[in-house]
Amino acid sequence: MRRERGSWQQLWWDARMAPPVLYLLGSAAPPVLQAGTVVEEARRRGWDVCLGLTPTAADWLEDQLPQLEQTSGHPVRSRYKRPGRPDVWPPASVALVAPATFNTLNQWALGLTDKFVVGFAAEAIGKGIPLVTMPCVNAAYARHPQFPRSLATLRDAGVRVLYGEGGFVPNPPGRGRPDSYPWPLALEAASAALDTADGDGAAPHTAAADPAGARHARCVPGRTEHGRP
Ligand SMILES: Cc1cc2nc3c(=O)[nH]c(=O)nc-3n(C[C@H](O)[C@H](O)[C@H](O)COP(=O)(O)O)c2cc1C
Repeated sequence: MRRERGSWQQLWWDARMAPPVLYLLGSAAPPVLQAGTVVEEARRRGWDVCLGLTPTAADWLEDQLPQLEQTSGHPVRSRYKRPGRPDVWPPASVALVAPATFNTLNQWALGLTDKFVVGFAAEAIGKGIPLVTMPCVNAAYARHPQFPRSLATLRDAGVRVLYGEGGFVPNPPGRGRPDSYPWPLALEAASAALDTADGDGAAPHTAAADPAGARHARCVPGRTEHGRP
């Protein structure tokens, strides 16, 4: 088929051939310092990756930001854009919130959206963008009464939460092992979320049981709009 440059056929073809877009949204827990390696690995797995960070995580990675932008091929975002400014990321196929701190998870579950990363993730629930998260909390944070409530809220909203067996298992305070944060499980779950997208894009809260006791949304990659708050 001959496709004229700029024609609707060409645009349709380009959209079909574009790699899926993974929004990797990290908060300020030590595994975020591995963001560069994770972006590289996600790209190796076929994703176009956009890296978003909470302001604290961006501060931790300050020296690496230019390199991270080069590796991902997109600006690293840690703040909302100003009104009227253009969108700098392509629309998300899947968003992976990891590492997710106690603070970020609770804010997300409670709908407290003063941070770009949390605002995006909160809006993505309503937009039906497939969402995966992997917490990074110590065992003391995990015993706070809000923590299980926040995980339950997010799971009920269709977010796949990788916590416990098959996901992140908390360590005692001060005995965290950032190098053993199970990033491969997070990337596999993101791919699974893409694979199981059901194609109608209309049922963001269609949650299905999975072996880890988590649930995740099913919707169409590429058809949902990018949360550009
Ligand atoms: C060295 C260091 C390690 C930390 N590790 C964690 C952690 O593993 N999990 C967590 O929830 N908070 C951790 N924190 C605390 C968070 O960084 C802090 O609550 C921060 O406000 C989170 O902000 P954010 O959720 O906006 O990124 C750590 C703080 C420091 C200084």
